[in-house]
Amino acid sequence: MNKEIEKAIQILQADGVVAIPTETVYGLAASIDSPTGLANIFSIKERPFFDPLIVHVASISQAKSCTSNWPYLCDQLAEIFWPGPLTMILPKAKKINDKITSGLDTVGIRFPDHHLTLELIKRLGSPVAAPSANKFKKISPTTEEHVTSEFPDIFVLSGGACQIGIESTIVGVEGYHITIYRPGMITKNMIQQAIPEAFVTYQESPIAPGHLKQHYMPKLPVILKLASSDITHPFKCPARWSISNDPIQVARELYSTLRELDKKEHDCIEIILKEEYLEQDTFRGILNRLIKASYLKSPLIKPEY
Ligand code: TXA
Ligand code: MG
Repeated sequence: MNKEIEKAIQILQADGVVAIPTETVYGLAASIDSPTGLANIFSIKERPFFDPLIVHVASISQAKSCTSNWPYLCDQLAEIFWPGPLTMILPKAKKINDKITSGLDTVGIRFPDHHLTLELIKRLGSPVAAPSANKFKKISPTTEEHVTSEFPDIFVLSGGACQIGIESTIVGVEGYHITIYRPGMITKNMIQQAIPEAFVTYQESPIAPGHLKQHYMPKLPVILKLASSDITHPFKCPARWSISNDPIQVARELYSTLRELDKKEHDCIEIILKEEYLEQDTFRGILNRLIKASYLKSPLIKPEY
């Protein structure tokens, strides 16, 4: 067995936490069977207990075993989008600890697309619960170095740079209604095209991710600016980033670039967007993260997302 995976398993079996690679961002994982490990995630991240964790599985049957109801559409979603950056919120099975769900009767389930993490879950023999491996409200990590810079004592299963770059799309499924609670790189149009009979809507639920208005925040204030606007701001020394028209590339670079620009020699991060991006489904996840990174500090752009 890969030595790194062996070490990660030993830590998880001893109620510890390890950082795991996924295609979206790195996660901070504990076994779902370890109440101590789960509690450790919250204390290491400084995360409040009311914010539930996503359970990561390595097969569809393992996903089903974590739920008490598996609507028909979930089979289609799983077949089309798993393994991949899609999380489904479903009624939880009894075995799912309240620490994972923050006392909710639903659980978030995801089948990530990274061979090392899938091998880890298979060999551990149980799913792992994992939020993103960053301090609460801070920028998510997309490389091993990002994790280590914030958590030098945590063992990281090194899996290279994350290929998607922003967190998974989170959906609720009830009958034929699919509600997108957190937008991501699997978009409303992609889901709608894959399952024409479904009724797909966006809705940020109060119990869903992102209900916290400030999130993904660099230390410097983030200013979102439309390329077409001449609005000025009081900052003298901005670090500037003009977003390209390739959402896949932008998502992949987003958190690395924010970390890179978040340096002392600047007094703000200015992100320049083209107006047309605001209308594009493929940019929705990216804009959601940027708006949360800048909320209250930059009232210049506030699309009704
Ligand atoms: O791509 C991802 O989803 C990454 C990687 C590591 O898998 N994970 C991630 O986890 O983004 P986290 O904890 O940073 O964000 C998960 C969000 C939380 O904001 C939480 O509110 C929401 O998922 N969530 C989890 N379970 C839920 C539930 N039962 N109902 C509503 N929201 C839930
Ligand atoms: Mg997070």
